[in-house]
Parts: sequence; C-alpha cells; structure tokens
Amino acid sequence: MKLTYYGHSVFKLEHKGKSLIIDPFLTGNELAPIKAGDVKVDYVLLTHAHPDHFGDSVEIAKNNNAVVIAPFETAVICQDKGCAAHPMHIGGGHDFDFGRVKLTIAHHGSGCPENGGMKCGGAPCGFLITMGGKTVYHAGDTGLFYDMKLIGEMNRIDVALLPIGDNFTMGMEDALKAVEFLNPGLAIPMHYNTFPVIQADPAEFVKMVEAKGKKANALGFGESLEI
Ligand code: NI
Ligand code: MN
Repeated sequence: MKLTYYGHSVFKLEHKGKSLIIDPFLTGNELAPIKAGDVKVDYVLLTHAHPDHFGDSVEIAKNNNAVVIAPFETAVICQDKGCAAHPMHIGGGHDFDFGRVKLTIAHHGSGCPENGGMKCGGAPCGFLITMGGKTVYHAGDTGLFYDMKLIGEMNRIDVALLPIGDNFTMGMEDALKAVEFLNPGLAIPMHYNTFPVIQADPAEFVKMVEAKGKKANALGFGESLEI
C-alpha cells in the first residue's frame, strides 16, 4: 500500500489501482502541497464534518464520481450536496472493493457551520482501514482514550496516524501514550502547524516515540511511503 501525506489530517492510500483520500482539507490550507482539482480517487473518507476535515470533499467526490464513506450524519450532509455516499457508524465495518473500513470512536465534535447556523455532523470517528493486507488507523480528531488499548489488542496496526497539535486534539504527551496503547509498527503525526493554535514539532514527537523503543516518521507534506 502506498500512503501519501498532504498536511493536516489529509492522507491518500493507494493499492492495486484503487485509491482513497481521508479528510481532504486542501483549499484554505496554505501548507497543502496539492489542489483539490488535482486529486484522483475512488473514495473520500470523512472522520467528521468540521471544515478542516470536510474541506474539499464535495468537489473531489463529484469530480471523480467517488463515494464518500463517513458516519451516517456526515454522509447525509454529503448526499444533500449531491454526492454518492456510504453511511457507516461506530463499531461497524464494511468490505469495499479496495479493502475493509471499520469505524472507531473519537472524542470530539462534528458540527458543520453553514449559512450562519450549524449542521450536526453526528458523532466523529476514527478509521481502521485494511488494504493489501496492511492496516492503517487514522484517529481522526480526538483526545486520548483508554479504548485505544483495546483497538491495539484487537488489530495488528501497521501505521497509526495520530494528531499531535493540542488545543483541539491530543497533544504530543497524550499522542505518545496513544502509541503505547495502539502498539503500531509505525506512528505518523498529523494535525499540527496548520493554524497558530496547533503548532507542534513533529521531529520532537518522533524522538519521544523512539525513546520508548517504537518507530515514528514525520512525513513531509506531499511525501509518500510504501507500507
Ligand atoms: Ni475537528
Ligand atoms: Mn481538526
């Protein structure tokens, strides 16, 4: 499986001609190395409806005839905007043509500001995505939770994508504890430096993880990895 990081919480996963993008917030993110119009994918996975995750989902889904996979309430918001969507919910898994997706809990919110009001995106989630025999855990936006230990016990996680930016999500100390609970083959930090309130040093996080005898890699924006 090929994994590419596009900044914030945006990752593209590809395997055998199938591809998906997670939380494609590109327009409005000065650090994003690509434009929404350049994205070619079969699926768009959304952890929640906050603007820094919902991002360019509708444009990308429509451009590509891609299916949005999201928690029910967020999926319905996408359907209302004319996208094809596959609603799921926490604890549920489904086999797609590219592999399997299972939704995990995430402690966060999921409101979608619109026309001066707020649409409810339902409960936010994390994703366990299995493609080509490899499992990636995208934590979404979340605080640390002890069930990560259970997620780690029940799944052989090859790569864990974890927020480290603090303020809205886990900071580095809590993300380090998450690595301990999840026991992934590799931890990759995300959700940092996009905004002034989520400044964090990903190289410092890598050092902290390595000091615990685990592997981490702070991918550059636009950088890919074969896993
Ligand atoms: Ni959020
Ligand atoms: Mn966020």
